[in-house]
Amino acid sequence: MNWRHFLKRSILIATFIGVVIGFAIALSLEKVDQLTSTDAFCSNSCHMMTDYIAYEPVYVNSLHRTTYTGIQAGCADCHIPEGLLAATWTHAISGMKDSWSLLVNDFSTREKWNKQRAQMAYQVRDQMLANNSETCRSCHQQDALNPRRERGIRHHELAQRNNVTCIACHYNLVHEQVAPRPEFLSIAGAWPPATE
Ligand code: HEC
Ligand code: HEC
Ligand code: HEC
Repeated sequence: MNWRHFLKRSILIATFIGVVIGFAIALSLEKVDQLTSTDAFCSNSCHMMTDYIAYEPVYVNSLHRTTYTGIQAGCADCHIPEGLLAATWTHAISGMKDSWSLLVNDFSTREKWNKQRAQMAYQVRDQMLANNSETCRSCHQQDALNPRRERGIRHHELAQRNNVTCIACHYNLVHEQVAPRPEFLSIAGAWPPATE
């Protein structure tokens, strides 16, 4: 076997091993993502999510949790964008942020949690503004939305014409109400909230 042949072969073998390892990493990321995306994981991994979010009447009784068809939106459906890389990235970053937040903040009582709630709500809304409400669109097809009332029809026409994104009008969907701050309203275009 001459050296050129040997080199070619080594490159082929190295590429093959690289591809196999790449696949293995991608598959395990996907598995880790799946396992850490369930409602059970999100709400049990830290008790705040259970105590202050998942069992709140506003969440349990929201239309997203009580559809007559039994379709339920879960934490990850709204909070983790689709796509393996995006999902892993969001997960890793928000996981680290959340863990850091647990270290530096005191969430031992509901009052203390509620003090921080507005700040957290702002962050989620800013993210959704920035990614064009991507997670909402994984279930709701903008072109297929068919509001029952005149006001909804009118607003959705306006939204499409002016590229206004879902979260700009549909905040306070499933959690305790948090008033929008002026910066959000100015970016969102100062649309009246859809829940009024
Ligand atoms: C239907 C979509 C949807 C689902 C389902 C959902 N969220 Fe949210 N979440 C939002 C939006 C939108 C916000 C931004 C604040 C707002 O306007 O309510 C938010 C905000 C939050 C916040 C910031 C604090 C607050 O109260 O606003 C936390 C923490 C949170 N969600 C955790 C969760 C967890 C844990 C679950 C599952 C038990 C969950 N969310 C399910 C849409 C959702
Ligand atoms: C897992 C799929 C899913 C995701 C993700 C999702 N929704 Fe929904 N949404 C539903 C279903 C199902 C209903 C109930 C539809 C019905 O009863 O006809 C609903 C109802 C609604 C309603 C009407 C009821 C209400 O609560 O006012 C609005 C508005 C809405 N969604 C907006 C959003 C927005 C904004 C987001 C992103 C933050 C979002 N949805 C994310 C599935 C989803
Ligand atoms: C400019 C503001 C605005 C934007 C942007 C907007 N909506 Fe709406 N939406 C409304 C209003 C207003 C209603 C009617 C509420 C009512 O009738 O009580 C509505 C109604 C709905 C409903 C319920 C329909 C019904 O008749 O029950 C759903 C679901 C919904 N919107 C989802 C979305 C999603 C998903 C997006 C993003 C693709 C979006 N909306 C963008 C203002 C908006």
